[in-house]
Amino acid sequence: MDPTATEAIERAVQVLRDGGLVALPTETVYGLGADARVPAAVRRIFAVKGRPADHPLIVHIASAEALDAFAVDVPNDARRLADAFWPGPLTLILWRAPSVPDVVTGGRDTVALRVPDHPLTLAVLRALHSGVAAPSANRFGHVSPTTAEHVRADLGDEVDFVLDGGPCRVGLESTILDMTTEVPVLLRPGAVTPEAIEAVLGRAIERVATGPSRAPGMLRAHYAPRTKVELVPREGLAERARELRAQGLRVGLLAPSATGAIPDVTRFDLGEDPEDFGRSLYASLRAADAAHLDRILVLEPEGQGGLALAIRDRLRRAAAAHD
Ligand code: TXA
Ligand code: MG
Repeated sequence: MDPTATEAIERAVQVLRDGGLVALPTETVYGLGADARVPAAVRRIFAVKGRPADHPLIVHIASAEALDAFAVDVPNDARRLADAFWPGPLTLILWRAPSVPDVVTGGRDTVALRVPDHPLTLAVLRALHSGVAAPSANRFGHVSPTTAEHVRADLGDEVDFVLDGGPCRVGLESTILDMTTEVPVLLRPGAVTPEAIEAVLGRAIERVATGPSRAPGMLRAHYAPRTKVELVPREGLAERARELRAQGLRVGLLAPSATGAIPDVTRFDLGEDPEDFGRSLYASLRAADAAHLDRILVLEPEGQGGLALAIRDRLRRAAAAHD
């Protein structure tokens, strides 16, 4: 690791040890982190984000070996999933260990744990010898940050240090899976798909991702830019854009590169494949939001497999914000 990276890691660790807040890169989105063992520091996360206190936080750990420091009665299936997907975009809900502060879990008897897949943040976690409680590093209800610049734009100097690890590789928040029930329940779809989870477990899980959720904070209207967002299927796109233009509205379009020309819309490119779509979605929503448009059209992703479920979930929430 180069000397500047080493210095930045040391700085992040020091700020966390002193009870400060550090924005950390992960493969999904940037997190706003505090030492999970220091209640006063974790409380500041809620103040800075403007997040309700009953929305619990994910605790980020260095490896599956730290599972038992934060959780009890960890089922074998959870360990198998950890082996298969960590470091990576899967968060497991487990019974909390008594030492986990109430402020982290919103007073619940469960705790959310994951090992993020980013070399800088893994280095911080290894050096800290604790867990880092971190929600996405955006203001409450806003779009999650996928670059250090997004974090600075949202939180300014209310965060004590931003560890810049470049743009996030996945770009969508982690899959959340509740492992405290007989049948594991998908609380939030992400890059680790239900199919991949079921292949490891050798049994079906419950998929409630589109229905009411047990993860507080999975509000129907969430992940929302200021400009009204509308999800449009491929067939209806040209017609819908024409209608809105006829009303005199300024229209933006987020769509994969291959999408044909649509007249009089400001285009934001979502790349070639579903991975590009996921990776660039939040940055494009932010860019479209900053462009002073009246409406943002987003082309609905095709199919159900892979990232499509997670992308559709986030877009529905973004669209619901203005209903
Ligand atoms: O990819 C991610 O998960 C990112 C990065 C930073 O790791 N983090 C993230 O955190 O998206 P946040 O706080 O924006 O979303 C965490 C979600 C919330 O909806 C919260 O309600 C849920 O996890 N959650 C946390 N602890 C929980 C628990 N004990 N039971 C049920 N849901 C929980
Ligand atoms: Mg969030």
